[in-house]
This record gives sequence, C-alpha cells and structure tokens, in this order.
Amino acid sequence: RKTPQGDFMRPATRTRMSSHNKKTNGVGVQVEETRICVVMVGLPARGKSLIAQKVVRYLDWLSIKAKCFNVGSYRRTATPQPAASFFDFSNTEGERLRKAAAEAAVNDMCHWFRSPGHLIAVLDATNSTKSRRRWIKERCDSEGIETLFVESKCDDEELIMANIMEVKTTSPDYVGQDPEAAAKDFRERIKMYERVYETLDEDEADMTYCKIIDVGSQVIINRIQDYLQSRVVYYLMNLHIKPRSIWISRHGESEYNVSGQIGGDANLSPRGAQYAKLLPGLVAKSAGDRPLTVWTSTLKRTAQTACHLPYEKLSWKALDELDSGVCDGMTYGQIEKEYPQDFAARDEDKYNYRYLGGESYRDVVIRLEPIIMELERSENILIVTHQAVLRCIYAYFMGVSQEQSPWMEVPLHCLIKLTPRAYKTYEERMSADVPAVSTWREKGSKAEHAQTPGPSARASPMIGAMSK
Ligand code: ADP
Ligand code: F6P
Ligand code: PEP
Repeated sequence: RKTPQGDFMRPATRTRMSSHNKKTNGVGVQVEETRICVVMVGLPARGKSLIAQKVVRYLDWLSIKAKCFNVGSYRRTATPQPAASFFDFSNTEGERLRKAAAEAAVNDMCHWFRSPGHLIAVLDATNSTKSRRRWIKERCDSEGIETLFVESKCDDEELIMANIMEVKTTSPDYVGQDPEAAAKDFRERIKMYERVYETLDEDEADMTYCKIIDVGSQVIINRIQDYLQSRVVYYLMNLHIKPRSIWISRHGESEYNVSGQIGGDANLSPRGAQYAKLLPGLVAKSAGDRPLTVWTSTLKRTAQTACHLPYEKLSWKALDELDSGVCDGMTYGQIEKEYPQDFAARDEDKYNYRYLGGESYRDVVIRLEPIIMELERSENILIVTHQAVLRCIYAYFMGVSQEQSPWMEVPLHCLIKLTPRAYKTYEERMSADVPAVSTWREKGSKAEHAQTPGPSARASPMIGAMSK
C-alpha cells in the first residue's frame, strides 16, 4: 500500500504486458499451434445446436477464439422452409442442395481458420453418415486442422418430443406455420435421417471423438490427443439439461462500501445486515421450495449476507473479490491521486489491467473456471459474491463481451435469477427495498461513488442491454 509510485509502476507495467502475451491465453497454456474443428453428429433434436453454442460461449469467455458454423442456416438461404421430403436421401435435388450448404459452411470455416488466433470452430450439422464425416475429416486434414467429432445420441422418445415442441416448432424452418403441423413434419424429417444415420463406431476408430449417450448417462471418448481437445471434452461431460436456475447476489452493503474503500474484509453495514435478513424471503419468493445450495466467498461480508439462509452452504476461495493488490483498502479517489497513470490505464483496458500484487478481470475469469464447471454440473445454486466476480459469472451466462463486462452496473441489494434455456439464458431481478451506496464508477469519471447514497437496486438498463 505504501509502495512508492516508481516501484509500483514498473511491476504493474510488466504484469500488464504479460497478460497480453501471445503465447498464452485465458486457459494459461500454449495453444497457438492447435486448431480444432468440433464436428457435431446426431439426428435432429438431439441438442447439437445447444451444445455447439454453449461450447462457443464457454471458449469465448476463456478468450479462446471460437465460432459456430451452422449448416442449416447456409441451407436456408436456398431452401428456407423445406418439407420433410427435402431431407429424403433419395431426393437428388435435396441432396445436392444440402451438400452445397455443407461445402459452403466448411469453406467459410477453413477461411476463418486462416486468421491468427482463430482456434476452434464448431460445425453444427447432422453429419449423420460415415461418408460425410470422412469428407469433413479429409478437408480439415488438408488444412492442418484437427477434428473432434461430438455425437449426441439419444433414443428417449419423450425427451425428443419435448425438444421438438420446445425448439423446433419455433425454428425459422417453420415460421408462420401451425405448431402441430410443424411438429408432425419435423418428426417425418427425423425419420428421413434415421434411414441413413450411422452412429460413430469402430470403423471410425482412427478418429478423435466423444459420444454422449442419453444426455451424458454414458460418454465414450476415443483418441483425445491434446490439452485443448480434452478441455472441450471435459466441458461437454459436465453439461446437463435438467431445468434449473442460478441466483446471484452481491453481499449486503459493507462498511467499506459506505466509506468508498475497495477490497478488504469488512463487516456488513447496518443496511447490509438488513438485506441479509430480507434475503431468505426474497429467495423463497423466487425459488419456492426447490432445494438450493448457497455458495459464498471466504470473506466475512458474503458469509454474513448468507447467514440467515436456511440452506446448505459452501464457501469458495475462488469466489473472493478481485484482488486489488497494493490498492486494497483505498478509495478510487486515493488511487487516482496516488497512481494517476495506473488509474487511467485501468480505465483504458479494465479487463486486462492487473493491480500490482493483485488481479485483473482476466485473472478472475481463469480462477472462476472451476466454479463455472461445477455450476454446469449442479442444479439450483445461489451465489453470494462480489461486484467483479459477479460480473464475470454473469458474462459467462449472458455472453457479455470482455470490453463491456467489467463496466456493468450490478447494484447492491438485488437478487438476480438466471434460467438457462435451450438458446438463451433468461434473467429476472428482484430488489430488496433497502437503500445502499452505489459502488459503480463510470469509465473516465471521478470516483466519489460512496458520497451518493440512494436506493441501489434501481433497474440497471446497462446489464440487460449488453447481453447478446
Ligand atoms: P439439434 O441441433 O440436435 O437439432 P437442438 O440443439 O436444436 O437440437 O435441440 C435443443 C434441445 O435439445 C433442447 O431442448 C435441449 O434441452 C435438448 N438437449 C440438449 N442436450 C441434449 C442431449 N444430449 N440429448 C437430447 N436432447 C438434448
Ligand atoms: O467496491 C466494491 C468492490 O467489490 C471492490 O472491493 C472491488 O475492488 C470493486 O468493487 C471491483 O469493481 P471495479 O472493477 O469496478 O473497480
Ligand atoms: C439442415 O439442413 O438443417 C441440416 C442440418 O443439414 P444436414 O443434415 O445436411 O447437416
């Protein structure tokens, strides 16, 4: 804290530079040489698109450049609303158009891979025959791109029907059509595919693949070769599709929030303690009698906020607030005065700026990765944590960019409910009627946030507007 500015500046500059080091990325390993095409495989309505999008969002969050290429949307430019007969494999015109769509997608994907840093593409299509998969592998081999085939195989009729009703009848393929007729046609489409569908098997033993059977009740893994492939597979193995919600809240207002200091391990203010008392009611109103587990950080203010909640609790070091290093315990005003260059540098690139002896948002994301993995495995969880950590968790679920997420306004005394659904995460906010200071500081602004107490839990236009 008392480090002279000169000492402070040198290492801070060095650490900032190291976070731009091109040899590493969000996962902290050298991955530059590896380019992977994740090839989805499976009959329609097996969750391929959902898995594809989740993988891309997860990798993006970890700063691994990823992109999804959906063959269906290429096919739609020529054939926007095909009837089931279009997918009959004896329909030569249908076959020609579908092959053309696949070629266009693979060409664009190969072109995308030529840009530096573009590491993982997901080819989202049925890829239901061995010949189609062999063709993709050969195309990728010739470009030096690794292939990882990911098959979702599921024969649970009830689940498939639910999938059809939930997503397919609202797909652009059926826009404006009667949902019953759409569901009937979609079932016909699946039958067309079933006639020729070949699951990944020993004939493809030379290929790298992961076969997810019955929504993860069995997973077969073949020839996973490197670190990045195993990271993707590990993520896939943790996904589940049981309906659930995640609730997140910042701790109640702390004594440091009131005095405008950052970091530390302060107690709750009287208003913060009042929020803690109201939180069980707020949660019960939203979650009903669903079983919940509460996760807190190891800092007093989150444990105090959770203390009246009648659920099992777990405290995680990984949920502790962003470490502000030598600035811990200072107000923004003091930092601006004592370390003006660093204060400006943080505003310039808040995601990458690392406090001397502390952390950047990028560092926080890396330490939160096991939390995200555990969240994917879990059912209903309530997380009581801190401003920066909450921004990072929120960014993962809502797909908020690295430029925007560190600036999001997340008020105190507000409970956020996130419900992941097939193609997006739904958000609901519940405010407790307890005023608190605002700890939000606008980019480039003077930092007197604690001087303006007021109802903190006002609707934040920023957070919603920024989700993709
Ligand atoms: P596809 O791309 O295979 O046609 P979608 O991704 O559009 O299928 O289907 C999404 C639906 O599938 C969602 O309702 C999702 O909950 C469900 N789903 C997700 N994963 C799986 C899985 N492994 N097996 C079956 N259904 C799944
Ligand atoms: O002010 C509350 C707080 O949680 C601090 O402890 C922390 O340093 C800060 O918010 C993080 O927010 P920002 O990244 O906007 O400074
Ligand atoms: C599609 O056209 O919607 C599609 C997924 O195509 P294919 O089965 O050829 O991959």
